[in-house]
Amino acid sequence: MEGKTSLELQNCRAKGGSSGFKVAILGASGGIGQPLSLLMKMNPLVSVLHLYDVANTPGVTSDVSHMDTSAVVRGFLGSQQLENALTGMDLVIIPDGVPRKPGMTRDDLFNINAGIVKTLCEGISKYCPDAIVNIISNPVNSTVPIAAEVFKKAGTYNPKKLLGVTMLDVVRANTFVAEVLGLDPKEVDVPVVGGHAGVTILPLLSQIKPPCSFTSEETAYLTSRIQNGGTEVVEAKAGAGYATLSMAYAAVKFADACLRGLRGDANVIKCAFVPSVVKSHPYFTQLKSTV
Ligand code: NAD
Ligand code: LMR
Repeated sequence: MEGKTSLELQNCRAKGGSSGFKVAILGASGGIGQPLSLLMKMNPLVSVLHLYDVANTPGVTSDVSHMDTSAVVRGFLGSQQLENALTGMDLVIIPDGVPRKPGMTRDDLFNINAGIVKTLCEGISKYCPDAIVNIISNPVNSTVPIAAEVFKKAGTYNPKKLLGVTMLDVVRANTFVAEVLGLDPKEVDVPVVGGHAGVTILPLLSQIKPPCSFTSEETAYLTSRIQNGGTEVVEAKAGAGYATLSMAYAAVKFADACLRGLRGDANVIKCAFVPSVVKSHPYFTQLKSTV
């Protein structure tokens, strides 16, 4: 913008075009964070969208904020702005951290991502302890228990509000099953339980809505393809990436379900990696009401 005007951004009147929920994305400049920010800006349930990262948030925020949808977008850069990014949030989505390269497993990310998730969750317990938390950072099977321990230590743990995002496994399962059966994926709902890594990803092909039947060859093909969906993308991108676009889509589908639950909608039931009552598996992906 050329020239000086009294209408600097901070003097403008926009306070959120609609009533709705306040959502923060931590890791908003990343491969998942950017398309996720775009899609959340399009969600009519969101009135305020906070984009936080340790790099590049001014640019991403400026770009996304030009979209003519209701949500007001604000950017936050670096740990000194984490408090402002989190204060007052209803939902916090965490896609920060490093992704894997070909030949790595999700567990190889543990050392770096565990520390990042721990620090962010310490911030959540201080600045928005009642928020719903969606954890995307891998390895989800470990980052969710780490977040739980942080919240327990801070006295803010609410097991109903800590959700590991495994929606991408469901999205993939719906797509692959629909391909095999010649259906529209929108008509298929495959529950996927267990965890979010290799053989811990358990598609329940006998529990699909609508009920479907498969040959043993189809069952073996589908189970393997769903369990290895992440590796399929990592290998196809050949060192240049991993699932980001389909993950952003899945994250928004899940976040939207959380917001509908917060709004009081009945029967919002999705799969998520959550604390479990089964003693041998203290955390387990299962079908849960989102609030
Ligand atoms: P990316 O490297 O493109 O982006 C990560 C972002 O996190 C970067 O912008 C980086 O600046 C930011 N970041 C790093 N340290 C931070 C900190 N301390 N605080 C805030 N932000 C920080 O990675 P990506 O592709 O967006 O993937 C992010 C994570 O999501 C990875 O761990 C990946 O494995 C995981 N993932 C999970 C699923 C799932 O199904 N749950 C699917 C795909 C990817
Ligand atoms: C996925 O399932 O695509 C993600 O968990 C990313 C990965 O490393 O596979």
